[in-house]
Amino acid sequence: MLRVTDIDVFYGDAQALWSVSVEVGEGEVVSVVGPNGAGKSTLVNSIAGILRPRSGSIEIDGVDITRVPTHRTCRAGVAIVPEGRRLFPAMSVRDNLDLGAYHKEARAKREETLEWVFSLFPKLADRANQVAGSMSGGEQQMAAIGRALMARPRLLLMDEPSLGLAPVIVDEVFDVIRTVCSGGVSVVLVEQNVHRALEISDRAYLLTEGRITMSGPAAELANDPTLRSLVLGV
Ligand SMILES: Nc1ncnc2c1ncn2[C@@H]1O[C@H](COP(=O)(O)OP(=O)(O)O)[C@@H](O)[C@H]1O
Ligand SMILES: [Mg+2]
Repeated sequence: MLRVTDIDVFYGDAQALWSVSVEVGEGEVVSVVGPNGAGKSTLVNSIAGILRPRSGSIEIDGVDITRVPTHRTCRAGVAIVPEGRRLFPAMSVRDNLDLGAYHKEARAKREETLEWVFSLFPKLADRANQVAGSMSGGEQQMAAIGRALMARPRLLLMDEPSLGLAPVIVDEVFDVIRTVCSGGVSVVLVEQNVHRALEISDRAYLLTEGRITMSGPAAELANDPTLRSLVLGV
């Protein structure tokens, strides 16, 4: 459903991605792994429409969204859980979630989607009226995922969702990714927790210095000696 073809992405004159191609099928979880600074965030931000590739194309179900801004990619069915969560700390959990449902189609289904999000993350229901900034890191990450789901995306981009979370919360986040995906949502997962990411992924790409250097079934990559030494340090 997602097809990224040969994108080159720059920050000013500095090139961050070189001819990167990635495909994601319907209901697939696809991991993008690689060392710090490899270009993982640049890739998901490009798919989300936050960055604009200088060349190449990004298609959702055959529709070109390469030069479509973020608020429109949202309507094309793409939502992002950004690195660092980016919640509004002074706003309630409920209001943060509502922000995710800003396009018309999502707004119409808001109550129904909210129930779904609360069923995935019961803690958010308990804390709906609490200000987001007063919650633990894990709860804030759940709120950030919940907010992205409020847009009723068909493709969910997640940039380092487990960063800084306690192991038990990481388990919860990874369980939810699988649940969301079994509901037909495709997922692109960027993780520094490579081992766990590959465990729940169907396929994976290794990004090194702005280039895709390896791709294949997640189980195969998990056992690849090059990948293991590069990102797992073993
Ligand atoms: N806003 C920015 N301005 C200039 N260079 C950037 C910016 N963001 C990232 N970069 C550079 O682009 C490259 C890829 O960064 P990034 O996509 O954040 O990597 P990763 O998410 O894999 O750690 C790095 O060399 C980084 O320094
Ligand atoms: Mg990053």
